[in-house]
Amino acid sequence: MKTYLVTGAAGFVGSKLAEKLLKAGNTVVTVDNLSTGTVENIPDGTRFIHGNCQDQSVIDRLYSWKFDAVFHVAGQSSGEISYDDPVYDLQTNTQSTLQLLQLCLKTGCKKFIYASSMSVYGDVDESKMPVKESEVMPTPKSFYGVGKLASEHYLRIYAEQFGIATASLRLFNIYGPGQNLTNLRQGMVSIFLAQALNNGHIHVKGSADRYRDFIYIDDVVEAFETIAENAREGEHLLLNVSSGVKTKVSEVVESIISELGQNITVQYEGSTPGDQFGIYGSPEAAVNKTNWLPKVSFNEGMKNMISWAIC
Ligand SMILES: NC(=O)c1ccc[n+]([C@@H]2O[C@H](COP(=O)([O-])OP(=O)(O)OC[C@H]3O[C@@H](n4cnc5c(N)ncnc54)[C@H](O)[C@@H]3O)[C@@H](O)[C@H]2O)c1
Repeated sequence: MKTYLVTGAAGFVGSKLAEKLLKAGNTVVTVDNLSTGTVENIPDGTRFIHGNCQDQSVIDRLYSWKFDAVFHVAGQSSGEISYDDPVYDLQTNTQSTLQLLQLCLKTGCKKFIYASSMSVYGDVDESKMPVKESEVMPTPKSFYGVGKLASEHYLRIYAEQFGIATASLRLFNIYGPGQNLTNLRQGMVSIFLAQALNNGHIHVKGSADRYRDFIYIDDVVEAFETIAENAREGEHLLLNVSSGVKTKVSEVVESIISELGQNITVQYEGSTPGDQFGIYGSPEAAVNKTNWLPKVSFNEGMKNMISWAIC
């Protein structure tokens, strides 16, 4: 059995990952500042440290452990919010990564897996879709994307210079049971679903023709585990965690309306700073390198999420 650090375990992705690692009998240490996550989300049985991953005082408390791998999932996760306070965004998403990489270097932890984002790509020409990791020059449109891209480069250098096995997972739009339905600034599916359930009205900030790549939470957790197993010392894996399927914003809205079967009104108005018009990603590199395969279709995933949300 192994010892893992999972940051962001009070949030959507981190809690599910920590839960799965615990169930397999591993020791799991968690860090979270509870900025968007809740204590109730942290699975029972982890050793929880409350604080910011970028703070030296928190890092100092982690020196007593010898981790087999660090899963750095914590971070503020919205391009829109990164415009409110770009300095905080840098601290939470990038400085935290550097601090934890230094921890690995100094304590001999040989594996570091990172929650990056499709936001690093910025706008990609539709002829290049589904986007592949190596075929476009990432040009982020938000401070959030810049911070994630910088983190990826730190991981690359720690692999090349210090031999740590690192992996940056470019996560596309994650959805599924457990996503926060009270935070209306994070997560396209959860925002629309919460609006529909609370007000019978969905307000979409932007065009109905925008498109995304929705990836189900269980597939994402499996990607973290599988990619970690395949990470090799001295190598930085840079992999999309995506379905490869293009789904329009209007299809998300229609899916919610048809599942809820109610009179829900929809308004398309406004915009979000740093929003990408449309992107979907090729999972081919992850599939070829690690055998990870996204399994849950959008329709099935939406049914699961909606039944979870209404019960
Ligand atoms: N959800 C998505 O669609 C998506 C897509 C791309 C990338 N990501 C990335 O995946 C990660 C997890 O996303 P999520 O949807 O679970 O978000 P989330 O907000 O549910 O979880 C993030 C967790 O990190 C904690 N946190 C934030 N900053 C912290 C800090 N500096 N120190 C310690 N804890 C901190 C929060 O309190 C929260 O519990 C994030 O890094 C995000 O950028 C998510």
